[in-house]
Amino acid sequence: MSPVRTIPSARVSAYHVPVLLAEIESLLTGATTILDCTLGGGGHTAALLERGMRVTGIDRDPRALASARERLADFERAGQFRALLGNYAALSDAGLAYAEHFGGILLDLGVSSHQFDDLSRGFTFREGAPLDMRMGDDSEFDAAELLNTIDEVDLSALLRAYADEPRAARLAREIVRRRSRRPFATADDLVDAIRAVLGPRSGAPDFARVFQAVRIAVNDELAGLERALPLLRDRLEPNGVLAIISYHSGEDRLVKNAFRDWSASCICPPKLMMCACRGVALGETLTKRPVSAGDVETEGNPRARSARLRAWKRAV
Ligand SMILES: C[S@@+](CC[C@H](N)C(=O)[O-])C[C@H]1O[C@@H](n2cnc3c(N)ncnc32)[C@H](O)[C@@H]1O
Repeated sequence: MSPVRTIPSARVSAYHVPVLLAEIESLLTGATTILDCTLGGGGHTAALLERGMRVTGIDRDPRALASARERLADFERAGQFRALLGNYAALSDAGLAYAEHFGGILLDLGVSSHQFDDLSRGFTFREGAPLDMRMGDDSEFDAAELLNTIDEVDLSALLRAYADEPRAARLAREIVRRRSRRPFATADDLVDAIRAVLGPRSGAPDFARVFQAVRIAVNDELAGLERALPLLRDRLEPNGVLAIISYHSGEDRLVKNAFRDWSASCICPPKLMMCACRGVALGETLTKRPVSAGDVETEGNPRARSARLRAWKRAV
């Protein structure tokens, strides 16, 4: 009889299948302490804990945090894992001491499959879903409030910037027209407005794009990431690695530009005669191109299709 193969718990949770797991494990190999800024179902964290690393996990969603703590209870009891409720853009509010630094920091952006599949959370465009989309209690408004109150011009700008929607102005006008008759309350209201503007041939990819744009606004995702990037960089130990998986072109652009700037020895505008900036590179980009999931992974986990992984290493 062949020996029983143990399957690490990271690979068996139904909550969320971790994306680009082997690549993350390989990039963070040298680290002994990890900050997982987007703990979610704890999939990446579980794999890193199984490699003997110490992990601090943060999530702004109390339900995600509770579920990950249950899964990782043995590691928490052993003092190898701790979970903090909060936003990675405000680490000290989440209870992280200013002096704490890490050999590896991970961000796996967006929402988990579990959050998405839970109709009551309102991330999905499935029939009857409430227009909520808040990841945690720290969002100032939910999706219904946003869609029912936002100014038409701002809504159009939001749809263009976050959803790349060419008919953003028409869609914004249609939403404002419809909400004046009856406030938006469920996913169906938004889907009907999209269909009315994009036509009967519009479908899931269009709904997904627009819903993702609204979610990004509700959770202040892009501005939060932009604020957080330099703060997270400064939480790295010398030689520490920051690894970020994005699922939206706006997120990936922010990460790419930040890594490029931090890796340049001079960031002065070209017109300046003499260098007036810090004059040294802060570190190096480890991924010259974004890493994507291969065919085998995307076949098993369609969510991995849009994933783009970039990593940066702090200098000594
Ligand atoms: C894609 S999931 C992470 C999945 C996780 N890597 C795993 O393998 O199970 C993203 C998680 O990050 C959380 N999140 C997103 N933005 C956040 C933020 N600004 N601060 C803290 N948590 C955040 C979400 O609530 C969600 O649980």
